[in-house]
Amino acid sequence: MSASLIDGKKVAATIREEVASGVQQLREQGITPGLATVLLGDDPGSRSYVGMKKKACEDLGINSFAEEHPADMPEADLLALVARLNEDPAVHGILVQLPLPGHIDEQKVLLAIDPIKDVDGFHPDNVGRLMVGQPRFSPCTPAGIVELLQRSDNPPSGKHVVVVGRSNIVGKPVAMLLMQKNDRANATVTVAHSRTENLPDVVRSADIVIAAIGSPRFIKAEWLKPGAVVIDVGSNRVEDATRERGWRMVGDVDFEAALEVASAITPVPGGVGPMTITMLMVNTLQAARMIHGIH
Ligand code: GUN
Repeated sequence: MSASLIDGKKVAATIREEVASGVQQLREQGITPGLATVLLGDDPGSRSYVGMKKKACEDLGINSFAEEHPADMPEADLLALVARLNEDPAVHGILVQLPLPGHIDEQKVLLAIDPIKDVDGFHPDNVGRLMVGQPRFSPCTPAGIVELLQRSDNPPSGKHVVVVGRSNIVGKPVAMLLMQKNDRANATVTVAHSRTENLPDVVRSADIVIAAIGSPRFIKAEWLKPGAVVIDVGSNRVEDATRERGWRMVGDVDFEAALEVASAITPVPGGVGPMTITMLMVNTLQAARMIHGIH
């Protein structure tokens, strides 16, 4: 058996067309959606993500305001910057790139973002809304996973989904989204993590595996039930001397071996990655509509 590939680039391109047309409609009413990104320090991964977000905005007609500051920016200054962006009428979405440097209290910063501009969906108000089934903004990577399952014709309803990883950015919110009572969810969800006993057996019980551990090729093909659907959220840089830049990107799943067991799988790169930024654009458009009372 050879799994079919779930093409995140293609799905993302379709959704981006939908967003571009929504943006166009708003612009015709004199409203240009705006996204502010805040980056502290010069981590190459974070810098590259923020760069991709900026480019996606430009492609779709969304204004992008890029705030870049040194890693030693005092917490009080960052909070003041967030307060200013909260008040800025040209800014509809605010994204503070994580992780933040160690001297900054991440939760304090997330709490300072106006929940109506919280396009990451990380503010406790928005996390709570998701938990009680009234989502405002769904976190981007989890929302992208829901779209991928839906649009690749692998609906999770009634299926056993095993999420490996319990982060606030992916594991916990994707579990919450997929257990919602609606047609795009209705899954039976297990959340496994680094302390789970007999992880291979737990993964083997999954119809759909969502790998979000952040460890290269951690999930082995032998752990998969034949015919399982695999969503690989990992984006790990590993050394590769055959590449000019010296590294390549691999996921959290042993992809080549998994191809022989799974029925469908997302590649890395080109699977979940393009969806995350696309869902950020969806959320930014939604924020602009909400702020202006357009539904
Ligand atoms: N760092 C890794 N993923 C994300 C994300 O989705 N949003 C933000 N703000 N930071 C991240």
